[in-house]
Amino acid sequence: MLRNSETRFGLVTIVLHWTIAVLIFGLILIGFVMRRVEIDPALQFSLYQWHKSFGFTALGLALLRAIWWLVERNPSPVPSLSPLERKASRVTHDTLIALAIVVPLAGWAIASTSTLDIPSFYFNVMVIPHLPLAKSEASENFWIFVHALLAYVTLGLAAIHAAAALYHHFMRRDAVLTRMLGSGAPSSGMGARGAQKRDDIVVRRNDQ
Ligand code: HEM
Ligand code: HEM
Repeated sequence: MLRNSETRFGLVTIVLHWTIAVLIFGLILIGFVMRRVEIDPALQFSLYQWHKSFGFTALGLALLRAIWWLVERNPSPVPSLSPLERKASRVTHDTLIALAIVVPLAGWAIASTSTLDIPSFYFNVMVIPHLPLAKSEASENFWIFVHALLAYVTLGLAAIHAAAALYHHFMRRDAVLTRMLGSGAPSSGMGARGAQKRDDIVVRRNDQ
């Protein structure tokens, strides 16, 4: 099933979600190593190029995801969620969708405003042109600050978001995580424990 339904995420949303999640965590790791760890300058240059290539890929997928999210219906929240949890997850998802676009755009702005004027090779296949921004050290430093700050904000928010998903799966035992894995989302959305209770009721009724 490619499209979302009333209760489940479809394959398009699931593949985009996990691919973007892996890319974002990988890009933060590469970004941290190339900027904050003492490494050989040749390796550092090549990490910059990999970072930019995967960063552009993340930007393209994030734009597709945002368009898909606007045109496709979203499944209803899992019924066991309180109004506050619904609101919190909605705000978190909206913010993550925006950050996944703004962070790579700010990275692109760094490459574009740098006075070094180093071209951005996309996996050694083509050169991605710079954004039409004036080159200056002040402007480059501004975008470095914005890019780094928002990248680490994304890391923090994604960590809270992932922890919430694990909490729902292991403690609350509802369908929040399984429906993003494309497996076993009960149509009632009440999860394994709820389904077990329902089965128990059916068994007891049959015994009477
Ligand atoms: C979702 C996508 C991206 C994420 C999560 C990300 C994350 C990061 C992180 C964590 C750093 C290190 C910040 C620090 O500790 O100072 C960094 C640095 C950098 N990123 Fe990205 N990045 C992304 C996309 C891009 C793109 C598309 C480009 C360029 C086309 C780019 C260009 C750069 C550059 C040039 C630096 C080094 C800045 C400096 O010299 O201090 N990034 N990125
Ligand atoms: C290991 C990391 C992650 C886990 C375990 C995780 C888990 C989940 C789960 C279970 C849902 C479904 C919530 C529901 O049922 O309503 C979801 C939705 C979502 N997640 Fe994540 N997630 C992770 C990383 C990320 C990252 C890095 C982003 C950043 C872009 C992200 C953005 C979203 C968004 C925007 C949604 C809303 C549905 C959509 O349109 O894709 N997630 N996530």
